[in-house]
Amino acid sequence: MYIDTHAHLYLEQFDKDIDEIMLNAQSAQVGKVFLPNIDRSSIDSLLNLSNNYPNQCYPMIGLHPCSVNAEYEIELDYMYKLLKEKKFYGVGETGIDLYWDKSFKKEQINSFKRQIEWAKEFDLPVIIHSRDALDLTIEIIESAQDGNLKGIFHCFNGTIEQCQKIVDKNFMMGIGGIVTYKNAKLDEMIKYLPLDALLLETDAPYLSPVPYRGKRNESAYIPLIAQKIADVKSISKEQIMEITSANALKLFNVDA
Ligand code: NI
Repeated sequence: MYIDTHAHLYLEQFDKDIDEIMLNAQSAQVGKVFLPNIDRSSIDSLLNLSNNYPNQCYPMIGLHPCSVNAEYEIELDYMYKLLKEKKFYGVGETGIDLYWDKSFKKEQINSFKRQIEWAKEFDLPVIIHSRDALDLTIEIIESAQDGNLKGIFHCFNGTIEQCQKIVDKNFMMGIGGIVTYKNAKLDEMIKYLPLDALLLETDAPYLSPVPYRGKRNESAYIPLIAQKIADVKSISKEQIMEITSANALKLFNVDA
């Protein structure tokens, strides 16, 4: 069984055929899907999906850096209240994104730091999104790591050196469809990446692996990502499945 550690299957792109999407995942041996939140407006549909598929979908809660604006603290207060009331499996996705908009950089940093504290308080992994801000994101993690922080750098596409720093701080790497893109040049980083820090993710509906690049992504495509990593690391796809699933169950503290 594979685990998709990052998919937004609760978004409207899946409204019409979510039952089929969940069946496709099962047929592709993708048994569990972890759902990172985006902002307050996505929480209800995320929780709905998790309730409808209790052993397949696992809810997480947090505020995406691209959704941080002048009112971010109100959103965070609301999420923190929910976190105390309901079972969630991770905090996120959070992090820093300076690609789309730099105007709320300070707020993004504050939001990220506050969510890191939640992850520590509730002993949950923090799910990190970082774009055009990887060194800054790593710095924040380095200073927050007191031995009690765990989490995932989602959709990682940095250098070996950055990868090394992250793994040194006890963080995991979420590897997705980008690894199958020729221009991504991630092979050397994947060769270096220790197997015990490796997780698979789709980020569905975004970032479909080849040969579906540009189309809607779904959890059933996880084996394509596993195959590419297996080829680069010269081990079998089945080994990638076993290792990454064991890693995910341990990190999220979930039974098989
Ligand atoms: Ni995402």
